[in-house]
Amino acid sequence: MVQGKVPETGGAVPLYGERFEGATEELFREMRREHGSVVPVLLEDGEPAWLVIGYREAHQVLADSRLFSRDPYRCNGPDYVPPQAVGYTPGMLMSLDGEVHARRVGAVADALAEVDQFQLRGDCERFADRLIDTFAATGEIDLMEHYAYRMPALVMGGMLGLPDADLLGVAEDMKIMSNGREDAMDAYIRFTGVMARLIEAKRVQPGQDVMSRLLGYDTGITDEELIHDILVVISGSQDNTANWIGNTLRLMLTDDRFALTLSGGRSSVGQALNEVLWEDTPVKAAPGRWATRDTELGGRTIRGGDVIIVGLAGASADPRVRSTVHGDSGGNHAHLAFGTGDHGCPHPAPELAEVIARTAIEVLLDRLPDVRLAVPEEELQWRPAFHVRGLAALPVRFTPAYVVEHG
Ligand code: HEM
Repeated sequence: MVQGKVPETGGAVPLYGERFEGATEELFREMRREHGSVVPVLLEDGEPAWLVIGYREAHQVLADSRLFSRDPYRCNGPDYVPPQAVGYTPGMLMSLDGEVHARRVGAVADALAEVDQFQLRGDCERFADRLIDTFAATGEIDLMEHYAYRMPALVMGGMLGLPDADLLGVAEDMKIMSNGREDAMDAYIRFTGVMARLIEAKRVQPGQDVMSRLLGYDTGITDEELIHDILVVISGSQDNTANWIGNTLRLMLTDDRFALTLSGGRSSVGQALNEVLWEDTPVKAAPGRWATRDTELGGRTIRGGDVIIVGLAGASADPRVRSTVHGDSGGNHAHLAFGTGDHGCPHPAPELAEVIARTAIEVLLDRLPDVRLAVPEEELQWRPAFHVRGLAALPVRFTPAYVVEHG
């Protein structure tokens, strides 16, 4: 196996294990103290990499996709095997670069830009009500499994033009794929089957939906490539928006500032959503980049071919920006939660995600006004993944509500 060059500095920090699963603030402080803004790390498979935790340096990497490419082969040659831990999938939208990437992600962005946000809000309310109907009478539920995860996939499926009958199945399959267990391949095969049928149906009878718009553009991509792009769109939206909903609900259910206004304070939902993007951001590390030539970053010498991981959570915690944000993170939008540059979360996806997350939380608080944690806060478990900040479960209790079916 041909590897990226080993970072020169000794004492690389292992980027896995229990310390990366919970609160990482102290760990980032320690790394910053010992290594500065660009930290030599070891990935789980023993491969060396650089973790960028400086805000300015993170911007530099994300904004310069020529120097810091998503294509690992440009510098490392065709025999290179990219480390699994950095999220590289050949041919997928997120792993492409240059003109092909710009064309494909541009089509996705254009199709999403035509979504009517007023109608989206209505759809989100309908889906939220429908999900809450399934558990409102029970008095307790795990909100991650039965609400936060399902909302984004239902909404995105609806936006794509999927028939109602397929929505819950796709939501379930996306969750199975994101767990990465042995049943993931079956879920992937079912997903591609559903999408192939949708493409066929929309070719015959186009509608006011994202899939019909994508088919109408002259992007020159095959149906298989289109299905892969859709997979990136739905998986990007599902996991990230689900964790945004979950982390915000956790904040609101555990922090007195929000508890005081839980049933009445609508403005606090927006504040909590934004605060989470600074403090508990759903994507802790962006997918890997590779340096296309020798360069310098944050005082370090980076060799062409080195693996670079941008720690979005670490960069947002950089004291050089935190000192100006502190105490006002609810109103400051300069975080890196959505990345930036060519591969950043494409406009208008962040806005759509906010409509989904905000509506999910507002409808939940309207329907179940006394919702509260069913376990002490310390017992909430984070998913064991360095690149994701999301709860394994969010068990809550509430007064059982009489259900009028919302259809
Ligand atoms: C409607 C919901 C969403 C959609 C449709 C969506 C879509 C996408 C797509 C298609 C990409 C790939 C862009 C590329 O590589 O060119 C992407 C990247 C990304 N998205 Fe989103 N996303 C959504 C929600 C979110 C949320 C809620 C977050 C986090 C709070 C998020 C954070 C990111 C990040 C960090 C990246 C990668 C940035 C990078 O590598 O520099 N997204 N998103």
